[in-house]
Amino acid sequence: MAIPVKRVAVIGAGVSGLMSVKSCLEAGLEPVCFEKNEQLGGVWQTQELDNLDGISGGTIYQCLMSNSSKEMMTVSDFPFPKEYPPYLTPEHLLTYYRNYAEHFNLDQHIRLSTEVMKVAPSADHEATGRWEVCSRPRCRSGTLDGPTASEIFDAVIVSTGLFNTAFVPSYPGQGEFRGQILHSNRFRSGEQFAGKTVLVVGSSHSAGDVAVDASRHASQVYLSMRDGAWVIGRFGPGGMPIDAYSNSRWKAKLPEVIRRLAARPMFEGRFDLDNLGLRCKRRLFEGYIMVNDEIHCRIICGALRCKPGIERFTRDGVVFEDGTRVDGLDVVVFATGYNLNFPFFEDNSIIADNFADLELYMHVWPARRTHPTLAAVGYVSTLGAQTPLFELQSRWVAQVFLGNARLPGIDERMEDVKRRKEAYFKKFGKHRIFFPPIPYCEELADRIGARPNFTRLLLTDPKLALRAFLGPAYPPFYRLNGPHPWAGARDAIINGWANTVNPTRTRVVERPSTGGALTVAMLIAVTVLIISLILVLN
Ligand SMILES: Cc1cc2nc3c(=O)[nH]c(=O)nc-3n(C[C@H](O)[C@H](O)[C@H](O)COP(=O)(O)OP(=O)(O)OC[C@H]3O[C@@H](n4cnc5c(N)ncnc54)[C@H](O)[C@@H]3O)c2cc1C
Ligand SMILES: *[C@@H]1O[C@H](CO)[C@@H](O)[C@H](O)[C@H]1NC(C)=O
Repeated sequence: MAIPVKRVAVIGAGVSGLMSVKSCLEAGLEPVCFEKNEQLGGVWQTQELDNLDGISGGTIYQCLMSNSSKEMMTVSDFPFPKEYPPYLTPEHLLTYYRNYAEHFNLDQHIRLSTEVMKVAPSADHEATGRWEVCSRPRCRSGTLDGPTASEIFDAVIVSTGLFNTAFVPSYPGQGEFRGQILHSNRFRSGEQFAGKTVLVVGSSHSAGDVAVDASRHASQVYLSMRDGAWVIGRFGPGGMPIDAYSNSRWKAKLPEVIRRLAARPMFEGRFDLDNLGLRCKRRLFEGYIMVNDEIHCRIICGALRCKPGIERFTRDGVVFEDGTRVDGLDVVVFATGYNLNFPFFEDNSIIADNFADLELYMHVWPARRTHPTLAAVGYVSTLGAQTPLFELQSRWVAQVFLGNARLPGIDERMEDVKRRKEAYFKKFGKHRIFFPPIPYCEELADRIGARPNFTRLLLTDPKLALRAFLGPAYPPFYRLNGPHPWAGARDAIINGWANTVNPTRTRVVERPSTGGALTVAMLIAVTVLIISLILVLN
């Protein structure tokens, strides 16, 4: 049995790291958070690219807008300002997370410009479960500076993010290509491609954004997608944010066949995917989903052309899998995603750096370790806001460190790992962690007793119960009870919808009356009905 956990090292001060620090503090633990950049915020920080080191850092470009809506990505006990719009820019998010850090006094526990170089079991690890953490300060230019400090911690939370190390594929002939090749994490704005012929490669959210933005400035843009993606806009039926519309508890209970059938019109209703070259080879929910509101329009005005996967590069262009080619290419942007990377583990078996070998129980705990003193927060992707999942992960981790929640034995953990891995592989045809958010959130909430009992809620507060079941699954639901509840949770859920729509109601006019026409139409319909009934019954 490990000694009780008190001091916790948190690696990274992105959203996952900040939430982990908060969860440790509210549980009475003593977190020390290491952040290699000068600022907190992770992918949302708007620091100039030059100040970021080589390949790390996500894709933050000028036109970036969140792909999940405000109320769905809120921290469960820290509401977004009412006046923030329904979808957010990196500036909004950075300000929000800075205010979050300030509000809960997280700053004093964060060491900025300090990179974790090594995490290894302490000399007495077998008995205590402790870890040695070595860190080094970084100076302004981003280079490492000063001596390495070594400290012992009772536990470690790894929260260095999924967007750490750019992945660039390699194709035959790529070395001979004379144009420019870059990864999308170096992309800032379409202006940098003015007058050029550009090929964007990828089927992700960023591939779509880069292609659309480049198409406003470049002379021609091509988008190469091997399998393609299911493209969806931010507006759902009735103008509701699509993630709020899709992610409600009653819908999460429907079988996937039904959800697929119901969702298809939102992807295909207004578009012919074959004519646009946007058809995805995989079934809905089994391939990539791209949130994009403009791509169809860029295609129908000819500025953007979709192409299949690349077969090989030539000296000045590419040949695609269907034998067609593009010559005279100036730039290729690989929006091909990121690799997992944990350079501070000398032993790659602590957390593997690839999804095929990754063995995290419930996507959080290295399944084979004896002591539950090392956790990973932030390594899942979902169809909707990601951050509420990370927050629940961090709350669970804190409760396990405290000894209030227990993990099952290694065999059971490995079974869970295997079951999930096989299910995803079967679904996506590759190792990928992507699932609908609600069932996983409920599972996590159950582990810490933060899921309200529905029957009781229905009897005591039917309005709230119905909202929580039929409406969007807003994160404050998990602060109604359980450890560290928040008194504002009920209001936040009830007002979620108003907070989403009110900021854009900046021009309120009376709707023109349709009263007269409608009444006449109704009268005619009722008369016709009565006459036909009389005729039929006679
Ligand atoms: C373009 C883009 C758009 C997105 N849009 C949305 C959205 O709309 N909604 C949503 O919910 N999610 C979105 N996401 C996902 C987003 O990544 C997560 O929501 C969340 O911000 C990730 O936070 P994180 O802390 O896990 O990782 P990061 O934000 O990557 O933070 C990790 C931190 O760890 C630090 N670090 C790494 N290694 C070390 C080390 N050795 N020592 C010290 N520090 C280290 C890094 O500097 C970084 O600050 C988007 C992501 C991207 C890239
Ligand atoms: C939003 O973008 C991020 C980064 O590209 C991605 O991980 C996430 O899955 C996207 N969310 C949705 C709902 O597509």
